[in-house]
Amino acid sequence: MRALVVYESMFGNTQAIAESIAKGLAESMDVEILEVSSAPSVIADIELLVVGGPTHQFGMSRPQSREAAFKETDKALVSESIGIREWIKAVRIDVPALACSTFDTKVEKPPLPGAASKKAEKKLRKKGVRIVLEAETFDVDGMTGPLIDGELERAHVWGETLASAAAVPTGA
Ligand SMILES: Cc1cc2nc3c(=O)[nH]c(=O)nc-3n(C[C@H](O)[C@H](O)[C@H](O)COP(=O)(O)O)c2cc1C
Repeated sequence: MRALVVYESMFGNTQAIAESIAKGLAESMDVEILEVSSAPSVIADIELLVVGGPTHQFGMSRPQSREAAFKETDKALVSESIGIREWIKAVRIDVPALACSTFDTKVEKPPLPGAASKKAEKKLRKKGVRIVLEAETFDVDGMTGPLIDGELERAHVWGETLASAAAVPTGA
């Protein structure tokens, strides 16, 4: 089976989670991992799509929230141009009932409602994907991170679990 992991990240936290998920998947699948601006505009020839990004303003990032993120750091942002919101809107998915799952990162404290992964899941469902594992959130400490201890390991296990869920035949 082939999987594609598409991620958006400002300060590198979601990127690190995406890489850990990809390693978990790679234990039983062929995996390609792409930053969202390099992701294809047509999805074909894969069996699993995984999409993740940072939670901004209770959902997926927008140009103005990415602008706000830019002001939080003196380093370059990982995702400088588009976010998963724009990519999902534009992408054409040519695989019927493609297995799919989403993830996000968000601040641990204070706990805030909303998650980019849930919003992404809803939009992807409308494009005909089949959600095989519930959207997952990974926590960061403060706006720019770092990740909370143990989240990279949890992401690796989530990737392994996701690979197993995607391997279950439709209707099983
Ligand atoms: C403009 C902006 C809005 C944010 N809004 C939320 C929010 O609504 N809820 C939340 O839990 N975290 C929020 N955060 C924190 C981000 O989720 C955090 O920066 C992200 O998880 C870090 O991942 P990254 O390094 O991959 O960008 C916000 C961050 C920014 C920059």
